[in-house]
Amino acid sequence: MAKDIDWGSLDFSYRPTDYSYVSMYKDGKWDAGKLTAEHTVTMSECAGVLQYSQSCFEGLKAYTEENGKIVCFRPDLNAKRMADSCRRLEMPVFPEDRFLKAVDEVVAANKDWVPPYGSGATLYIRPFMFGYNSVIGVKPADEYMFRILVTPVGPYFKGGAKPVVVRIPDFDRAAPHGTGGIKAGLNYAMSLHPIMEAHREGFNENMYLDPATRTKVEETGGANIIFIKDGGKTLVTPKSDSILPSITRRSICYIAENMLGMKVEHRPVMYSEVPEFEEMGLCGTAAVISPVGKIFDHGKEIDIPSGMEKMGPTLQKLYDTLTGIQMGRIAGPEGWVHEI
Ligand code: PLP
Ligand code: COI
Repeated sequence: MAKDIDWGSLDFSYRPTDYSYVSMYKDGKWDAGKLTAEHTVTMSECAGVLQYSQSCFEGLKAYTEENGKIVCFRPDLNAKRMADSCRRLEMPVFPEDRFLKAVDEVVAANKDWVPPYGSGATLYIRPFMFGYNSVIGVKPADEYMFRILVTPVGPYFKGGAKPVVVRIPDFDRAAPHGTGGIKAGLNYAMSLHPIMEAHREGFNENMYLDPATRTKVEETGGANIIFIKDGGKTLVTPKSDSILPSITRRSICYIAENMLGMKVEHRPVMYSEVPEFEEMGLCGTAAVISPVGKIFDHGKEIDIPSGMEKMGPTLQKLYDTLTGIQMGRIAGPEGWVHEI
């Protein structure tokens, strides 16, 4: 029986569900893993994650399709990206096939928490891993905990699909040759001060420029960026090693090129080019496609032509196609939608 929740009023916040998944890495190997109803973690005060932030995570969603099936979207790419994050952080990889089985298992065990079709809510799935045992010298932990928590969520930005306002911060999110291209918890710690400052100034998000020259567009704290030009015929999206390779962005580019007949340019994007674009959107698992209406840059304003009232027509088409595939209304490429 579905939980008695007002799904339509959910925001993007954590509430514990029935089960999480947990597996421990010790003596050089992962244990068998299991579901757990315990949502608290106890560990050494000197754990690697507490002292040196050795942690990484993933984010994906489970949806109820129109026909009632529970599915998630391209989980194989999350498994692969988490493996990349682990390698960069000197953490053991949780095998990708086990990652996929664990996602299936934990979503199935929490099926009553998967919001119904049409509710606007989804079940957010958060796999994460961290250094568990004590370390005092700067070195990787020897023991790790891998967990998956799930939690029902509504829209990431308050106000749903209303265009948001971003600002150019004085801070960088990532360093050249740093960890911007992986999903390390430390990247998000770095973004907390700039995001709070943005909120205090009345903006929704920060649009980071490239850390080396501050002349190119990178991404926001939690989403990649897409631009539309040529009367809706072309999608432009920044390419950089310090941007997280968004699964949503890669899917949108595929849809634009192969389903909507658009041209896709994945290349460095100069900040000075931005006034030429007609529409701008933030894309990611949490953000889906959230339109941007304005950019603030130290008192100067760039108004995106599609405006502050609603999503522009091309982003709307991309949004409808992407969410249509995720919700089972539109047939997508083989393997994108995974039934639980
Ligand atoms: N960029 C950052 C910094 C993110 O945290 C996320 C969220 O995962 C994304 C982009 C979007 O990635 P994805 O579409 O894989 O969720
Ligand atoms: C996601 O989109 O899954 C994210 O991780 C973004 C954000 C919640 C940090």
